[in-house]
Amino acid sequence: VSILDRTLPAAEYTSAGAYERERDTIFGRAWQLAAFSADLDEPGRFVTATLGDREFVVARAEDGRLNAFHNVCLHRGAAVASGAGSRRTLQCPYHGWTYRLDGSLYRAPGFAEPPAGVRLLQVSVCERPPLVFVSPASDPPDFDEQFGSLFQYLDRQGVDLTAIAAGSARQVRQFEMAANWKVVVENSLECYHCKVAHPGLADTLDLDLYEHRIERWWSVQGAPMRATPQRAETALGTAARTAAAESGGFDFSRFVFLYPNLFLEVYPGTASFATLVVLPLEMGKTRSVHTKFVLEPMSDDEEHEWSAFVDQVIKEDVVLCESVQRGLRSGVIERGILNLDGGGANEACIGHFDALVAEAGLPP
Ligand code: FES
Ligand SMILES: [Fe+2]
Repeated sequence: VSILDRTLPAAEYTSAGAYERERDTIFGRAWQLAAFSADLDEPGRFVTATLGDREFVVARAEDGRLNAFHNVCLHRGAAVASGAGSRRTLQCPYHGWTYRLDGSLYRAPGFAEPPAGVRLLQVSVCERPPLVFVSPASDPPDFDEQFGSLFQYLDRQGVDLTAIAAGSARQVRQFEMAANWKVVVENSLECYHCKVAHPGLADTLDLDLYEHRIERWWSVQGAPMRATPQRAETALGTAARTAAAESGGFDFSRFVFLYPNLFLEVYPGTASFATLVVLPLEMGKTRSVHTKFVLEPMSDDEEHEWSAFVDQVIKEDVVLCESVQRGLRSGVIERGILNLDGGGANEACIGHFDALVAEAGLPP
């Protein structure tokens, strides 16, 4: 596994050319989280997903097979589906061309026979319950080769994502930042900044015991929760801490990263996890979508404390990411300097991510 000791060149975070290149070399190939299994559990169910500037529709066909397509009508290009739901066919809202859930064209108004051979353009799909990934590539990377070891790791840790996702309703938070998507990913790949920038988080996790594990296509960082009572005003509250102290297997917070843009956050306390997807909107604009699942209904207090805690950390991070983006635009920094070896929380997982981005291709 290669790990860079500098960040990528500043232009990689600020130039339109880099953004266009990554659209093909990274997001045109990589597996990206597009849906959750629960939304596709029966024939007829479909989900749409906008990933970067590409739109997809994932559907469970009559024969039970999961298919994924570019959400682009072959007539003149409108999106054939929106939102999610359950249907036998997908009808484009523009001129009414209608497609079966296997992608084939069923009806085109005004045509005696629908034009031959026209079907929604298929993309690769991989379901690893409770997660459904798509890749626009016709020859995508081998999913198991990239992430099989990660799901084994979660099993060994006793984290059953499927069971947790089958629990109560999910909470979704979305937030946008004026920063390049890699700045946002890098921010979540290190807790070196936590002591200074997140007093509440630093008072909740024991940052001196922070650990990192780096594999070929994924990494994990985490630390146990502090047993000491809270001092910082923005630390995780008492009900959530008590639940964590009383639960056996979830005493460790883990932030798992799956290249290129997905985090799985596993929390201590009432069994829960969240997905965080980092979506590039423009070169200097990113949307993060945070979806939290909880196995059993939490007490109102615990839920309220977790929400306040997560919202506070997000608020603090947004300011920092936007500040970094302005700094990179200024031309003062050529490449950032990474703390790879510091004890406790360091920046090794950034060095790993940046090496993977560089491997996908940098300009000569
Ligand atoms: S663009 Fe879809 S029917 Fe015309
Ligand atoms: Fe942060």
